[in-house]
Amino acid sequence: MVEYPMITAKITKIQKEGGKATTYELAYELGAEPGQFIMVWLPGIGERPMGVADNNPVTLTVAQVGSFTDEMKKLNEGDMLSFRGPMGHGFTLDENAKKILIVAGGTGVVPTHLLAKKAKQEGHKVYVVVGARTKNDVCYEKKFKIADELLVSTDDGSKGFKGNAVQAAEKMIKKHKVDAVYSCGPEKMMRFLAELCKKEKLPCQLSLERYMKCGIGICGSCMIGNKRVCKDGPVFNGEALLTSKEFGKSKRDAGGRKIPI
Ligand SMILES: Cc1cc2nc3c(=O)[nH]c(=O)nc-3n(C[C@H](O)[C@H](O)[C@H](O)COP(=O)(O)OP(=O)(O)OC[C@H]3O[C@@H](n4cnc5c(N)ncnc54)[C@H](O)[C@@H]3O)c2cc1C
Ligand code: FES
Repeated sequence: MVEYPMITAKITKIQKEGGKATTYELAYELGAEPGQFIMVWLPGIGERPMGVADNNPVTLTVAQVGSFTDEMKKLNEGDMLSFRGPMGHGFTLDENAKKILIVAGGTGVVPTHLLAKKAKQEGHKVYVVVGARTKNDVCYEKKFKIADELLVSTDDGSKGFKGNAVQAAEKMIKKHKVDAVYSCGPEKMMRFLAELCKKEKLPCQLSLERYMKCGIGICGSCMIGNKRVCKDGPVFNGEALLTSKEFGKSKRDAGGRKIPI
């Protein structure tokens, strides 16, 4: 079994993002593959999974949604932050997919940013959709300037394309005739995206979020069907996910109870 030692690094930069998200840069260089995650540890509180937006310096973006992320919001530049990882199975870039579309919703911008960076370095054309509820919730607009084209979509039309991220993705698929689609975001959105990709006969890879305790395939809290999201994923093939009754419909809470998405 792979062991993951605890790494502790200084927070060198904190920056506010759209919505309730904050970006942290750490004085540390990591070798995460796009889509892999780390388990961030706050002493006396616990560990939570977070994506990696950049390896050097390690860059995280955290949305404030509950007790752990409330505590993260209290951290300052110069404080130390601990984590284990990188963990899990990330995105696979197919070298034959010359033109790729990335669809990111909410903090789904985090792992997909590292993917966009790698894809550009490897010579792919990279088109990106960043979906948000309103213009105030948009994240990573500047960071995704590395893309060949970025389309921001907002549900209320306050910025960019008016509509949801899947409608924006459909527009980009038609415009650029892309070869593959990659996404991270709300699971309902990704289910619609997987259905669109199936219709368009496009391969797609999707990064899931499930409740994680151990992060290394032992506790079973992150299961979808018979797969462990932490170890077999978090990135899965879209068409395979469409065969799951749970995908985009239900997940498990901290106590293991099934709850609707
Ligand atoms: C692989 C993966 C990557 C993630 N990457 C990011 C990221 O880059 N940025 C980001 O802001 N968030 C990310 N998340 C979600 C993040 O882990 C949760 O928002 C965080 O754990 C919430 O903790 P809380 O105590 O503040 O909120 P709570 O009040 O405990 O919960 C709020 C929400 O967060 C979910 N959550 C709580 N604990 C966990 C847990 N142990 N594992 C998974 N989900 C949990 C709950 O199901 C609930 O939907 C990721 C989750 C996974 C599984
Ligand atoms: S979090 Fe324990 S098996 Fe995935």
